[in-house]
Amino acid sequence: MNDTTPTPARRVAALRARLGGIGFGADYNPDQWPEATRTEDLKLMTEAGVTVVNLAIFGWARVEPARDAYDFGYFDQVMDDLAAHGITADLATMTAAPPPWLVTEHPEVLPVTADGVVLSPGGRQHFCPSSPVFRDRAARLVEAVATHYRDHPALGLWHVGNEYGCHVAECFCDTSAADFRRWLGERYNSVDALNDAWSTDFWSQRYASFDQILPPRTAPTYPNPSQQLDFKRFGNDALRTCFETETAILRRITPDVPVTTNFLAGLKSVDIYDWAPTMDVLSLDSYPDPNRDQAHIGAAMSYDTIRCAGGGEPWLLTEQAPSAVNWRSRNAGKTPGDMRLWSWQAVAQGADAIMYFQWRQSRGGAEKFHSGMVPHAGVDTRVFREVSELGGELARVPELAGTRIHNRVALLSDWHSWWALELDSHPSDAVRHLDRAFDHYAALFDLGIGVDVVHPSADLSGYDLVVVPSLYLLSAEHGAKLSRFVADGGSIVVSFFSGIVDEHDRVHLGGYPGPLREALGVSVQEFWPTDVGRTFALRTPGAAEPEAGAADLWREDVTLKGARTELEFVGPHWEGRPAATVHSYGAGTARYIATRPDVATMRTLLARACADAAVDPVLPNLPAGIQAAIRRGEGYDVLILLNHTGSIHDIELPTARRDLLTDDHRLTHRTTLAPRGVAVLGSLPTEHGGTGQSLETE
Ligand code: GLA
Repeated sequence: MNDTTPTPARRVAALRARLGGIGFGADYNPDQWPEATRTEDLKLMTEAGVTVVNLAIFGWARVEPARDAYDFGYFDQVMDDLAAHGITADLATMTAAPPPWLVTEHPEVLPVTADGVVLSPGGRQHFCPSSPVFRDRAARLVEAVATHYRDHPALGLWHVGNEYGCHVAECFCDTSAADFRRWLGERYNSVDALNDAWSTDFWSQRYASFDQILPPRTAPTYPNPSQQLDFKRFGNDALRTCFETETAILRRITPDVPVTTNFLAGLKSVDIYDWAPTMDVLSLDSYPDPNRDQAHIGAAMSYDTIRCAGGGEPWLLTEQAPSAVNWRSRNAGKTPGDMRLWSWQAVAQGADAIMYFQWRQSRGGAEKFHSGMVPHAGVDTRVFREVSELGGELARVPELAGTRIHNRVALLSDWHSWWALELDSHPSDAVRHLDRAFDHYAALFDLGIGVDVVHPSADLSGYDLVVVPSLYLLSAEHGAKLSRFVADGGSIVVSFFSGIVDEHDRVHLGGYPGPLREALGVSVQEFWPTDVGRTFALRTPGAAEPEAGAADLWREDVTLKGARTELEFVGPHWEGRPAATVHSYGAGTARYIATRPDVATMRTLLARACADAAVDPVLPNLPAGIQAAIRRGEGYDVLILLNHTGSIHDIELPTARRDLLTDDHRLTHRTTLAPRGVAVLGSLPTEHGGTGQSLETE
């Protein structure tokens, strides 16, 4: 490899150099507006500090108005204008919405639901991911776009597709059925292996050949769960193949330009851990609901997921709403300060760009009530003022770009377990993957602990504590790895309904949770999910006070096999039965939680686990509702403090720092956070004597 061989790191370094700091911008859809508006847009973008735009995401019908009749005239002007204003284009491959001519000529590209309904054009994402016609037409378009813009000075990043799987996650048409059979053939080699994996002797489903297999279309009762699970995997792979087909073309034509696609936070259909390795930089669209008190904690969990999927590298927040969205049943705007606070939160958790959907609020179309950086009312508006101020602030801290975060706690998450957990015919339909992850994540968030959200295959050696929230599907291999982690001195906390099935959704026998039983020192024989809303008391064994919190959702019959009880159930039939246990295993500690404790109890249990593992909060003694994160660069770091409360807070800093958002260069040992306020505090670079030393102090 010579010095200029394109690598993901070099491609990303080139993008970082272009942006010169934290990128700032939006989806830009000038094609929805008259020419004169673009002139105003570019002036306003400069005013607002825009450095990057996602361009032409829905440009297919304009660029290829008829088969093979490419017309780049319009977007050439836009790209030239962007270049002239020093704005980088994250140029789309334009394949997210097939144009009318394509579906008219080839209606077979339209996706079909499990009920056999053909989804019509008129919205977007109306393509079957396995359609050879769609893939071919998309590939030709990408070839044309990449060839046309390969040397354009505005081109800095490729934006492949758009939010894959957001509307159409899987297609049940005959083309998809044939592709599913091909996929199964590659996965299982023989139909006997498939019969074994899918437990097809149940309900007379044994297949004699792959030709007999269909997608899990709507059936009289539960379709085979292993078949459903494999179809989720196949759906994810079919979409990834679309992404990879386009990426391969881009890599060939523009090997120096980085490639991304924008994932949607909390989307079940697309396995970010699986897609991440083929991407240069990961991107996330995040739409926390202003009507929900804990929206910022859910957002935080998705930021810790995307960062860790990318191996800890910075990622791009490619979309968020400047204020309201249009697609919930009630769409509240963000109250003053929240857009700034939540943007800085993304930066605190590793984002190297803050972008919005969209630049100018649409006049027509389905998203006209979705906020834009430039609202319907124009620029003399709160929203435009707030976004412009944020653009200015972000430009003050170029040293943040490229910095990383180090956490000592990992929370395990796995899309395959998510898919399997939420299949039908389970003990309870109220045990949901994101909810269960959130219960644990929120407790750690409240404790001020920095968390990495990682896949079970991740290298755990850098962590002291691993949290496993209802990880229903756990392979024997990953179970053994977790057990070794404990034996070698690590701490784990495992919650109920973890380690139940293998990768084929077949139960690990001999008592639950199969591969973790020994490390946890418990064995479970039966589950007792309860009605939603019903609670039951918990007690510390031997404690004078009768109760130590409450729990709901689930109980199970735990037999101790070496563990001791930390919390027990109270009441008829359950009196004294273990609800939470702790076990010393090798050099480490393994905790098991056999129910869903209330928020305070969950926090207590996780605080104990953190104490055992000697894991401290990012900053000691922070008031409730203050989030802290540290991004580390070469010889310096930046502490970001976020006040998610409505009160003022004075924060003592363990080491003196400089406020990077003001012109005051003095070092300080304290900072005042306004309600919903933010502080961005730099250490001294080591060449100046290290954090908190020398220079003038307040
Ligand atoms: C998604 C899409 C955008 C837009 C926004 C609206 O993120 O990628 O095109 O529809 O939602 O919130």
